[in-house]
Amino acid sequence: MITDPFIARTVRELRMQLEPLRENGAKVAFVPTMGALHAGHQALMARAAELADICVVSIFVNPTQFGEGEDFAKYPRTWESDFARCAQAGVAVIFAPNEEVVYGGKKQVSVKVGSLADGFEGADRPGHFDGVATVVAKLFNMVQPDVAIFGEKDAQQLAIVRAMVRSLDFTVAIESLATVRESDGLAMSSRNRYLSDSERSSARVIPQSLEAAKANADRGLRAVVAAVHAVFETEPTVGVSYIAVVDPQTFVEVGADHHGEALLLIAASVGSTRLIDNTLLNLHALAVTVMT
Ligand code: PAJ
Repeated sequence: MITDPFIARTVRELRMQLEPLRENGAKVAFVPTMGALHAGHQALMARAAELADICVVSIFVNPTQFGEGEDFAKYPRTWESDFARCAQAGVAVIFAPNEEVVYGGKKQVSVKVGSLADGFEGADRPGHFDGVATVVAKLFNMVQPDVAIFGEKDAQQLAIVRAMVRSLDFTVAIESLATVRESDGLAMSSRNRYLSDSERSSARVIPQSLEAAKANADRGLRAVVAAVHAVFETEPTVGVSYIAVVDPQTFVEVGADHHGEALLLIAASVGSTRLIDNTLLNLHALAVTVMT
């Protein structure tokens, strides 16, 4: 039997719902989202159900993580279908605060992320990760979950949340989940709904480039980067923001002689829609033969 999720709009409503459950020993899993929920979000909810007794999903389009000229105003708000997806996933509580609940009179102190936020999304979207870290810290304090689940699609965000939990001694455990993709490989994203049919079709070069990278990983970094560029050259309407191969922990770019695990990060614009994706690679540097 599916019971509708309880909708909490304030921290008080949230606490009143969760406290008796916690007193009975229930373990709480938390999935923070900005709504416009899709199968990727639902996979996080399914993982939450495996990890804990009750799942709390937050839906809050966080203004402080959007830069000027970004899509805060037009970010899709799809309450009816979000509610249905949460109900289907057996979510116990949807926490859907407004800006006043989250930030009203509470902007004096915020979280500042260190060097992990310097490159890639952090460089292209100044202030983005401070906004993300601050709201995630606030949501952790509001929900007080035992475990929180994040998607690996937002790899830099995940690394920053893990770093924040370590740095600020949060007790919540962080779990991650592999990226859920459409049948042609495009990573599911709330922003995919901005794409026109022809843009949607062009966007396929993103997952294709990840596949090309994996196919060339045993030939080393240079071969990987060349293979990725070659795929993007087949679709000149897609503008690459960055292609980078980094250490998965530090997000420092690896050198041409790197051997072992590395993370390929890609950001690209399809029309006016900016999409990100990534994949883990097992790089094998080519042995350099010295001719004598
Ligand atoms: P949002 O983009 O709604 O994503 C919520 C969570 O879903 C994130 O952990 C994200 O990595 C995960 N996710 C998105 N697409 C996914 C996919 N295709 N497969 C698996 N997981 C996916 O990320 C945010 O919101 C915000 O920055 C937030 C953390 C809520 C703070 O405001």
